[in-house]
Amino acid sequence: MVQRSQLKVLITEEQIAARVAELGRQITEEYAGRDLAVVGILKGSFMFMADLVRKIDLDCTVDFLGLSSYGLKTRSSGVVKITSDLTMPIEDRDVLIVEDIIDTGLTMQYLLENLNTRKPRSLAIATLLYRRAREGQDGDVPIHYKGFTIDDHYVIGYGLDYAGLHRNVPFVGYRE
Ligand code: IMP
Ligand code: MG
Repeated sequence: MVQRSQLKVLITEEQIAARVAELGRQITEEYAGRDLAVVGILKGSFMFMADLVRKIDLDCTVDFLGLSSYGLKTRSSGVVKITSDLTMPIEDRDVLIVEDIIDTGLTMQYLLENLNTRKPRSLAIATLLYRRAREGQDGDVPIHYKGFTIDDHYVIGYGLDYAGLHRNVPFVGYRE
């Protein structure tokens, strides 16, 4: 078990806010005049999603897709399950997937294949965190908007959980 008090700060609330604002500005420029559908992957992205969409100064829809790949373990099982689907069609729309972290990329590969069958006009990925250790490995997916590249810590907080806990921690931390 990991206690809240054992968490060390990796990325502060202030650093997150500054980076999210930058990503929002970039997305605002790049999606101007397009038909933006922002899709958050539950549950881990909920906090990033809420902060990011407030920094996107455009008309857009917001929808969520529930996926589970980890169960209660801390390593990817490679098995991805849709636990709740989108509520709106994405055909012919410019879809931006919002994810908490890309690790092996297996979750994202599955998701890209699934969403591509629904014929979006475009499909891009924004992830808060990306693990450097994974660069160039199997399951590599193109990431258009990366918040922070991190080393090989298991990270917790700002939406990311440890066995279901600590999603509400306002910074990104790790256990020492
Ligand atoms: P992937 O399929 O290996 O890329 O796993 C991605 C998913 O695993 C993410 O969407 C997270 O939900 C979860 N995950 C991966 N690494 C971490 C971590 O360090 N902390 C919390 N969740 C993680
Ligand atoms: Mg996730």
